[in-house]
Amino acid sequence: MERRVLVAANWKMHGQRLQNSALISALLASLARVDIPEIVICPPGIYLPQLQTELENTELILGAQNLFTQEKGAYTGEISAPMLADYGCRYVIVGHSERRCLFGEDDELIADKFVAAQSSGLAPILCVGESKEQRESGLTENIVTAQVAKVLQKVGVGAFANAVIAYEPVWAIGTGITASPEQAQSVHELIRATIARQDESIAGQLRVIYGGSVNAANASELIAQPDVDGALVGGASLVAEDFASICRSMSKKANA
Ligand code: PGA
Repeated sequence: MERRVLVAANWKMHGQRLQNSALISALLASLARVDIPEIVICPPGIYLPQLQTELENTELILGAQNLFTQEKGAYTGEISAPMLADYGCRYVIVGHSERRCLFGEDDELIADKFVAAQSSGLAPILCVGESKEQRESGLTENIVTAQVAKVLQKVGVGAFANAVIAYEPVWAIGTGITASPEQAQSVHELIRATIARQDESIAGQLRVIYGGSVNAANASELIAQPDVDGALVGGASLVAEDFASICRSMSKKANA
């Protein structure tokens, strides 16, 4: 089965109502009448209702940046999967390195969030990736395999039939340094092989997307790699023309 390319915009903690509208309008104008991949917009949680309205009757899909594991209860400040679904989210980023590093999320919590997302019909975009020190110490394979394996152990391979994995080397996020296409391909291949050891057909369908300083200039060479199925884009997703250009470059494989 052919894997449909997916390009997700992670706005992180950026945006204001007027800017959000302007960004979406410019993006839609720029993508009109071109073949596009599957595009997911993940705004800050407070703007999900606004974006649900903005994206209505468009091909763009709404996603969230985070969720909590429980459906409801005394968890001040948290947002649950049913709440995200209530506002039309179809995807949710889980285990982003900023959540792991700045908010102390571990594999156990991330696996629980993965399960919570799927219980409400949301597809998790599970982020994994090594730090600069880990890469320099030759630990990339161990770290990434362990991150995938820990979630896999908890949720079972079947859960990956409705999930996406994002390889996001921590050293490439927001730094302007992108993994080379070869570096990305080798880790993507490893991720797919980790899933394939348990179920080859699920591994064959699984979308493994790349994140870390993806921009208009490097999108084409990344998507040309056999195991790169799209991108998770931070900084460049805030500039309509840049993000549209990434989407256009990445639609080519989708239509190849
Ligand atoms: P970046 O962020 O594109 O700004 O490097 C990617 C991400 O953190 O998802």
